Amino acid sequence: MAEIIIRQAKLSDVPAISRIETDSFGTPWSAQEIVKDVTSGGNVYFVVAADADKVVGFAEMRNVAGEAQIYNIAVDPEERGRGIGEALLGHLIDKAEEDRCSVVNLEVRAANTAALGLYNKLGFREVGRRSKYYDGKEDAILMDLVPGQLIVDVEVQN
Ligand SMILES: CC(C)(COP(=O)(O)OP(=O)(O)OC[C@H]1O[C@@H](n2cnc3c(N)ncnc32)[C@H](O)[C@@H]1OP(=O)(O)O)[C@@H](O)C(=O)NCCC(=O)NCCS
Repeated sequence: MAEIIIRQAKLSDVPAISRIETDSFGTPWSAQEIVKDVTSGGNVYFVVAADADKVVGFAEMRNVAGEAQIYNIAVDPEERGRGIGEALLGHLIDKAEEDRCSVVNLEVRAANTAALGLYNKLGFREVGRRSKYYDGKEDAILMDLVPGQLIVDVEVQN
């Protein structure tokens, strides 16, 4: 993991991002949509994970009125299970904290075990569900996390 760096995405990263997107999702975003987001600036924060020169993952977050929304995160199928998704998500959470966002939100398919495992590991909690949200079949799970909040179990003694 030492050689992986997370940095802001550049236009020249788009072919690699697009390949990972296509390898990861049934209805992938087009390269044109990715170009738009990578070059958007403003409230859009788009990063890649790079192993030397190779882009091995990416993630996108937007700051909407002080709330951070995770739009997308994916890792090259051949590079999964190495901690890259965790490094990308941890980076986004740190950025949301730095930007003083009150909360980080996301939506995930109920059957996406890998993503749910990742989100739970980093402290996201289920806050709602949209029934049959994806293709009229699969539920969407809504999750959030308060950046910078330390979650501890406190036993109150009377
Ligand atoms: C979700 C995804 C980004 C995880 O990336 P990754 O680099 O493989 O994940 P990591 O190696 O950083 O794993 C971090 C933690 O996530 C969880 N996790 C990762 N893969 C998992 C799996 N297949 N099953 C269950 N939990 C999993 C584990 O808690 C893991 O921690 P551990 O290694 O200590 O057990 C990757 O599977 C992916 O790109 N999926 C396709 C795109 C996608 O579905 N994106 C999410 C859209 S909402």
